[in-house]
Amino acid sequence: VDDLDTPTLVIDLGRVERNIANMAGLAARHGIALRPHVKSHKVVALARMQLEAGATGITCQKLSEAEVMADAGVTDILIAAQIVGPIKVQRLADLAMIVKLTTVVDSVEGAQAIGAALKSRGLELDALVEVDLGFQRCGVAPTDVGEFATRLAAIPGLRFAGVMGYEGQIYSGAHIGDVAAEAERAYERLDIALVSLARVGVVPRCVSVGATAAARLASLHPGITEMRCGSYIFNDLTQVAAGSALLEDCAATVLSTVLSIARRRSAVIDAGAKALSLAQTPGRPGYGLVLGHEASTIKRLSDEHGIIEVHGGPFRMGERVHIVPNSHTTLVNEFSEMVGVRDGRVEEVWPVAARGCIQ
Ligand SMILES: Cc1ncc(COP(=O)(O)O)c(C=O)c1O
Repeated sequence: VDDLDTPTLVIDLGRVERNIANMAGLAARHGIALRPHVKSHKVVALARMQLEAGATGITCQKLSEAEVMADAGVTDILIAAQIVGPIKVQRLADLAMIVKLTTVVDSVEGAQAIGAALKSRGLELDALVEVDLGFQRCGVAPTDVGEFATRLAAIPGLRFAGVMGYEGQIYSGAHIGDVAAEAERAYERLDIALVSLARVGVVPRCVSVGATAAARLASLHPGITEMRCGSYIFNDLTQVAAGSALLEDCAATVLSTVLSIARRRSAVIDAGAKALSLAQTPGRPGYGLVLGHEASTIKRLSDEHGIIEVHGGPFRMGERVHIVPNSHTTLVNEFSEMVGVRDGRVEEVWPVAARGCIQ
């Protein structure tokens, strides 16, 4: 590790292996399918490790991420975002020719466009109806899911497979207790959706939810058949704040070098917004935790510099520090490779194959 240039995204292999095994174990104990979201790492080797640990398939947010994973041999992919517009619909249909694909819809127009493209190729695609679990992003209202599913059933080229939702609002609370309460409210909305389906006599094969910080609750909630958790693979300060991980579970750190200590009570490192991301953690100041300097705060980020307000021990010129990020999910899109480390030695250098795949 001492030979690595900075900034570098360093992955603790022991922790990653434990995180993968723990989530796989939770899902298996409760008889729930785990379909990890690979937006959290964008690395083929890590997707393979998750599949080998028992994941039934993977989740991608973007079609281009799914294309990369399919090219690498992953065969069962859910794209957990709406596919809209003729260019994407054609790409979706192309991909459906080579892998077992599932799509997500929340509008009849969107579903019809996808259905038409699939039907013209003689294919039928599994579709999950997205339900708004309270995140107020995409998704039909829980009470409308039954009627929507009935309309979906009449669209050629698509096959109703069930429902999905993302309970992302759980991360906005400042207290751990809020996470559980918000998750419970989200799953009440899911229950309403399931009642709405039952009223029209439709049985979902798949009932899929997402968030890492709600995984324990999700695994206990009747009716849920699948979890799409992603962040658990590395964890970060957001997961620590949400109570779903300890600092010792955080597997990804940004290795950085102190460039300047010219200003009093300040140290400047070579990791800025591009290497650490501007994501914030509720209830915690700054842009990450500098290990060994826990009292100090990364106060400000410009693109390539991080400005630390120093408390406690001073920083040395040229000192190399590991930073636990607030959120790793945007910063994995900034590094072209990540380095897997065990006992201070580099064991793996993984290309971030789906880096930049935002289309
Ligand atoms: C639709 C969807 N599912 C699953 C996830 C994974 O959630 P988490 O990062 O909490 O594991 C995300 C994350 O953004 C998401 O948007």
